[in-house]
Amino acid sequence: MGRAAAARCLLVDDDAQVRSALARAVESQGLACTQAAGGAEALDVLARDGEVPVCISDIQMPGMDGVAFLREVVARFPDMAVIMLTGVAEISTAIECLRIGAVDYLTKPAMIEEVAARIDKALEKRALVLENRQYQANLESRVRELDRLNRQSLINGVEMLVFALEAKDAYTSGHSLRVKEFAVKTAVQLGFTGEPLAQLELGSRLHDIGKIGTREAVLHKPGPLDAEEFEHIKLHAALGERILQPFLSESPRVLAIVRSHHERMDGSGFPDGLAGERIPLEARIVAVADAYDAMTTNRAYRPSRGAAEAVEELRRFAGPQFDESVVDAFLRAHADLTVLPVHA
Ligand SMILES: [Fe+2]
Repeated sequence: MGRAAAARCLLVDDDAQVRSALARAVESQGLACTQAAGGAEALDVLARDGEVPVCISDIQMPGMDGVAFLREVVARFPDMAVIMLTGVAEISTAIECLRIGAVDYLTKPAMIEEVAARIDKALEKRALVLENRQYQANLESRVRELDRLNRQSLINGVEMLVFALEAKDAYTSGHSLRVKEFAVKTAVQLGFTGEPLAQLELGSRLHDIGKIGTREAVLHKPGPLDAEEFEHIKLHAALGERILQPFLSESPRVLAIVRSHHERMDGSGFPDGLAGERIPLEARIVAVADAYDAMTTNRAYRPSRGAAEAVEELRRFAGPQFDESVVDAFLRAHADLTVLPVHA
């Protein structure tokens, strides 16, 4: 609010003599006055010249009266301080005006000193309200900034974990990024947006983070795993959740993906043997994305399968292993298999 605006007062009264008496009182306070003879005219003045910090309005006026004018001001210019001018017989109306949003009222005939004092008080009150609002806004933006920094440091922590895993297992790097791409596109088909989509994105990037705890001999074994090795590698799902829990306790969907991306619809998966809809949807999505990428990528112990063959596998196991609606969404999201980010 500039100084010019802070030095204006609008006087609304149908009696020109009252207006000029008020104007003298207000001008003695160093405020410039604008006058209007009724509510409608006053609203025109405000629409033309913009909001003023303070306004004195009579209650009884022909046409739009003071109460109707006050309601309009409260709705359209909530920062204006309105003082009602009232006859002795109208005290109850004046009190009603305070309830509507007037800051004060003056009883006619008002003495110059009284007008000056009420104006001062009204301006002071208004300044406090504005200051408070400013403080509130600063506080909110500060909180948002802290929240952003918090999220950033969380992401930095998560990135650090990803780098640690990638240093140990180069395959995981490209794999996580591709799974993220597949999973996000599939989730969008299923209606994911906003925070749930953001959590799915992070969760798919991190789904194998627990492999930090997998022995390298098992991770890099150029052949099928024996039973003990398979049990060992299965630990990565629950371990990943445990590693991320302190960072991501506010992001349960991320944790659910990491823990449950190896569950199967028929309950034969791990670590919890969840079945059907008891498997979090996000984890069902990542399971499909994960399987597709694993099938279409060259590994030391087997060559990659082509896209068409991988799709065939997804279809064949839709039902017992994969959620059928997720497989459908995956295929809808990736209608043109030649542009799948297989080598991303
Ligand atoms: Fe995994």
